[in-house]
Amino acid sequence: MTVCFTAEQRSLLEVTDTLLVPVTDGGNPDATVRELDEVLGGALGQQLTGIGLRGQVGRAAILPTWGRLPARRLVITGIGAPGRLTLDVIRRAWGAAAQVAAEAGVSVLVSPLPRVEGLDRGAICRAAVEGVGLGTYRFLDYRTGTAPAGQLDQVLFLAEPSVVAEAIERGRRTVDAVNLTRDLVNRPANDLPPERLAGLARELADQLGLECTVYDQDLLAELGAGGILAVGRGSRHEPRLIHLVYRPAGESRASVGLVGKGVTFDSGGLSIKPAEGMERMKGDMAGAAAVIGALQAVATLGLPVTVHGVVAAAENMPDGAAFRPGDILRTLNGKTVEVISTDAEGRLLLADALTYTARLGVEVVIDLATLTGACVVALGKQAAGLFGTDSGLVDALVQAAERAGEKVWPMPLWDEYLELLRSEHADLKNTGGRWGGAVNAALFLREFTQGVRWAHLDIAGPAWAERASPLGPAGGTGYGVRTVVSFLEESAGRSRNATMCPVPAG
Ligand code: BES
Ligand code: MN
Ligand code: ZN
Repeated sequence: MTVCFTAEQRSLLEVTDTLLVPVTDGGNPDATVRELDEVLGGALGQQLTGIGLRGQVGRAAILPTWGRLPARRLVITGIGAPGRLTLDVIRRAWGAAAQVAAEAGVSVLVSPLPRVEGLDRGAICRAAVEGVGLGTYRFLDYRTGTAPAGQLDQVLFLAEPSVVAEAIERGRRTVDAVNLTRDLVNRPANDLPPERLAGLARELADQLGLECTVYDQDLLAELGAGGILAVGRGSRHEPRLIHLVYRPAGESRASVGLVGKGVTFDSGGLSIKPAEGMERMKGDMAGAAAVIGALQAVATLGLPVTVHGVVAAAENMPDGAAFRPGDILRTLNGKTVEVISTDAEGRLLLADALTYTARLGVEVVIDLATLTGACVVALGKQAAGLFGTDSGLVDALVQAAERAGEKVWPMPLWDEYLELLRSEHADLKNTGGRWGGAVNAALFLREFTQGVRWAHLDIAGPAWAERASPLGPAGGTGYGVRTVVSFLEESAGRSRNATMCPVPAG
């Protein structure tokens, strides 16, 4: 399902389709609501009181207009306290509204664009587009029979096309990238082994004009990627290293490496996980999916930055060939690692992928990985842990996440804790015990960054939603794509000189 977005200038009372009406939370209804309520003889206010909708962000309802307004129906959506309208509120409010509209079978939704002091109208429009596009996402690839009812076909913004057309297009391209990432995360492991992930990456590269190199098992052996090879050994499906490159048509203002953990299924290997909840480990490639989504976004947005996307893909399974606790591996940068737990597999893959990426000569490396349960314990389901060796890079990512409406929280890299990773017989061991698990894991990764400015996002919590929200259903969230895109737009110098490439067919 893809929603089409357009813009046109007309007044609220000319709208004959379903009209979106934002309402604030706090005593005085704003002018539009008052005006509509007057025409409806006070019925709007009564209805809203009746259902307890006072303007809470994330709540929305559809109401009839009893033939008293040209608009057939109203979709009321809460936008919180007056004067506190942020881009994130707009995203969630428009997401909730679109969900309600889609459920009610609305095909065309007409939406005003609020004016907010200090916020650019284009940015407001883009946030609304993101809300609608993310909120109405569904994963139906495996449903047979008729599609469930509810298709929002079009959202028409009441605004001057010259002002918002580009924002609409940027929002749509961002949404498409996030939803591609969600599709990849939601796709089950039986349909997405490493070679399929590599195949899809290659198809995407062909569509978007990216360079694509895939290392299969033999090439990984030649390269010396002992970490990736070890993790993949216990599976019938061979591991892959996928390297995508986006080069802008004109001048390139920065070069960035994005690295993703692509464990297509994490059973834990011989250090096998408990059965309960193991099905969610099909999503252990969410970092890889975010990297692939981010490459689609930069390419379709035409950002003037060079981006290398490197994905280490493997299935972590326990068979007779599987790597074992006690094994000592030689990683790509030559460091040896003693395996304590085969369930701490992500850092072994990333060790090689980080070394590989650092060697490409990029200015910064950012990795995204569903790395540790400990990070979820520390920060909860909604936030990613952010680690980094460069405070400028960390700050830039904090700000990018803020603009994108994704939660990140800076975490420490204390040298003292490196001691926990000391091994009797190898340079490092792959676990540092229970305490500070997210920090130890990040310290382990740092050993493979070769001195290049580096940041690490542990997305084990936010990559997967247990329940639906205004920005999407339960399942893969596509977390990280928007933060990375926002970071790259900023690195590109506010994206002003970007030239969007023609929309790929389909
Ligand atoms: N993929 C898991 C981390 C994870 C946990 C992701 C929960 C999403 C939700 C990772 O490979 C893992 O198993 N980590 C271990 C590390 C431990 C063995 C040091 C963990 O977190 O328990
Ligand atoms: Mn694991
Ligand atoms: Zn894992």
